[in-house]
Amino acid sequence: MDKVNFTQMKDGTAEEYAFLTEHETEYASHTADRLLKALVELDESLSGYQITRLGHSVQSATRAWRDGADIDWVVGALLHDIGDIYAPYNHDEYAAAILRPFVREQVAWCVQTHGDFQMLYYGDKIPGGNQHKRDRHKGHPYFDDCAEFCERWDQASFDPDYDDLSLDFFVGMVREVFARKPYDPEVIRPGAREPLVVENVAVARR
Ligand SMILES: [Fe+2]
Ligand SMILES: [Fe+2]
Repeated sequence: MDKVNFTQMKDGTAEEYAFLTEHETEYASHTADRLLKALVELDESLSGYQITRLGHSVQSATRAWRDGADIDWVVGALLHDIGDIYAPYNHDEYAAAILRPFVREQVAWCVQTHGDFQMLYYGDKIPGGNQHKRDRHKGHPYFDDCAEFCERWDQASFDPDYDDLSLDFFVGMVREVFARKPYDPEVIRPGAREPLVVENVAVARR
């Protein structure tokens, strides 16, 4: 079989669906490479800042790495703005949807809500902005983690003079995360909180 016969899903046979599943699994196994390609396309987006969106992404990931953060945090930092390409008005939710099956719940939540938290830094400087938008998440178990994510890695990463690692440095980590079994409870670990800064690891990486 190289193509199914049905023209309506309800007419497909079990053999045809097995055939399609095989194709989909093979396609899904290249997600990491497609994301890395998309990240490079971010290089062309959003002019006006002193660094490109790709530069900002790599710088955020570099800071996470140098803070001693674990792989979920580093890949989360690298991809937190990947939604800018297709979802300029909810880029955080879009990025979180991509990450959610493969990273700890804590990291997906912070990526999903970072847009609200980032308003702290400029909500008072734009018309109709709300500096306190993050307050709607007050009391959430990951509130402080997202506040720290934004303060240390996101809002700080627009510096053209910062000594960034290269995107290549992170490729293996992205591949490792997206090669995980989707929604593996041992990865998602609902409620688990890993620190953003691990001092002894940070010292070894600097
Ligand atoms: Fe963002
Ligand atoms: Fe960002």
